[in-house]
Amino acid sequence: MKFNTFVIIVALVICSPAFFDVTTAGQSGQQLPDGPGKEELRKLCSQCHELEKSYSLRQDRGGWTRTMQKMTAFGMKSTEAEFNAVLEYLIRNYAADEVPKINVNKARAIDLESGLSLRRSQAAAIIAYRDKNGNFKTIEDLKKVPGIDAEKIEAKKDRLIFEE
Ligand code: HEC
Repeated sequence: MKFNTFVIIVALVICSPAFFDVTTAGQSGQQLPDGPGKEELRKLCSQCHELEKSYSLRQDRGGWTRTMQKMTAFGMKSTEAEFNAVLEYLIRNYAADEVPKINVNKARAIDLESGLSLRRSQAAAIIAYRDKNGNFKTIEDLKKVPGIDAEKIEAKKDRLIFEE
């Protein structure tokens, strides 16, 4: 008897609309920001893979255009209007983060410190090394600075530029 009661309760919980809402929220894309193109995205981009995969990237206009073209090449069928609506929606809501690059040969200590999450002493060491040895040419030069955290530098390498 006790077991039966348990089964009934479990069945009630699983079948209740609240439970259903929670478990399907992801797939139905309820967390997608509202705006033009949203319905087209849900229609076009859930046919071959999870809808979530479709907006798992953050990229610029060129990147999203290439992704959309790639999906078309995979066999995605869309009208031109749908294609453009989804493209604009993705560009608007899933843009690449605009993180400014740091030119290590011109940067001030404060920029190195905040931009690369370095300690003040490390930022100062970079400036001192640069003053003494001239411009850094590559990331390997930068890692030679005494006391520098090479791993931290490596982790931020996409943000670094080495210009005169
Ligand atoms: C005709 C099938 C199909 C449709 C429709 C489709 N995709 Fe894909 N998508 C794929 C395949 C195949 C892959 C690569 C394999 C995988 O990751 O599942 C993929 C992977 C992706 C990836 C992962 C990164 C990458 O480039 O491989 C993104 C992002 C993506 N799709 C976005 C979208 C968007 C946005 C839409 C709607 C505009 C969409 N997809 C519709 C087939 C499709």
